Amino acid sequence: MRNFTFRNATRIIFGKGMENTVGEEILPYSSKVLLVYGGGSIKLSGLYDRVVESLRKSGIDFMELPGVKPNPRLELAIEGVRICKEHEIGFILSVGGGSAGDTAKAISAGACYDGELWDLFEGKAKVKDVLPVGIILTLPATGTESSTSTVLTKEEGLLKVGLGSELLRPAFAILNPELTFTLPPYQTAAGACDIMGHLIERYFTNEPDVDFTDRLIEASLKTIIHHAPIVLREPTNYASRAEIMWAGTLAHNGLLSTGRVGDWASHAIEHELSALYDIAHGAGLSIIYPAWMTHVYRHNVNRFMQFAVKVWDVDMSFDSPEAIALEGIARMKEFFRKLGLPVSFEDADLPEGDIEEMADKCTKSGTMEIGNLVKLDKADVIAIYNLAR
Ligand code: NZQ
Ligand code: ZN
Repeated sequence: MRNFTFRNATRIIFGKGMENTVGEEILPYSSKVLLVYGGGSIKLSGLYDRVVESLRKSGIDFMELPGVKPNPRLELAIEGVRICKEHEIGFILSVGGGSAGDTAKAISAGACYDGELWDLFEGKAKVKDVLPVGIILTLPATGTESSTSTVLTKEEGLLKVGLGSELLRPAFAILNPELTFTLPPYQTAAGACDIMGHLIERYFTNEPDVDFTDRLIEASLKTIIHHAPIVLREPTNYASRAEIMWAGTLAHNGLLSTGRVGDWASHAIEHELSALYDIAHGAGLSIIYPAWMTHVYRHNVNRFMQFAVKVWDVDMSFDSPEAIALEGIARMKEFFRKLGLPVSFEDADLPEGDIEEMADKCTKSGTMEIGNLVKLDKADVIAIYNLAR
């Protein structure tokens, strides 16, 4: 196990009705708030009204930035930065899924930076300060509610880029599983796959002697595998929604990265899909993981065999470690399919003509390798996209 430091500063406020306390939670930080949300699901569900009532009760003055799209765009975040600077906003509240959360986090960094917001994403400048952010989460998936990252897409060139900093962890996250009852099945499934993705990326490491975090990751994966089909059948099953929501936060809050180095190639390969075709990130991942695993499993057959046995209950009666590993990959693919997710370009009606371009973007014109379990060059990335067709 590697040396590590770990601290997650996000306060988690979990359970029924907790969104009604949001005004009190914000007051210690500021009484001038920017409220960031998406395309209207929070108005349909009545959540917007409850949030506004709580803010008003606490005497909080707020402005609004609606209209965050899935795969959120840079342009709206720039508008949010402008509002924050002009109106001396002291706190940003996101109500919605990961896209609203990521927009709020990007604004929080941009509001404390004098240059162009995209400089931070391009690495031309570092995040040195942020406005505090609170998140009321309605979609368990991205883990942005306590993660160090935000991901935005620049329309020009369709560049989807992540920005990471410890400063980007939200001050608090309100997690009420009831707020996820209204999720469409496709978003529920894509969210489950994204959570599994954050676990899989961490699981496939070259680091020896990480048994404790291996077991935690396996348990987290099994939790999603058990409860995701239940909530697809019973969308208002509080117990299962709660298990998924809490597992989704822990999957990406840093705890399960302790002492190990994760892979993350599949996330980079997927981000090109959602940048170009605007599909849900989790649905892009269900296409990429089976292909990535098929391409790299020989590098560490024992770890893929462990994944098959511990996560997918493959028994040891198969002929060889390789056969066990492949059976694990096959069961994962079948599970994604049963959730109603695509497992190939064809399933999602994606064209095949852009593979070269996506591999180029992903590897900075072939000058950069991605991933850690196995370093992948542009030819590997092309091979993975081809396996996923
Ligand atoms: O916009 P509204 O009307 O709110 O509708 C949304 C949106 O259409 C809807 N929705 C959300 N909660 C709902 C609901 N509909 C009904 N009831 C509810 N309770 O769902 C749709 C998708 O929402 P979105 O926020 O886009 O999805 P998600 O949470 O999956 O976020 C995806 C984005 O996060 C990035 C992804 O790349 C993608 O851009 N990620 C961010 C990460 C991070 N910051 O740490 C890590 C991830 O790996 C990921 O890359
Ligand atoms: Zn993800």
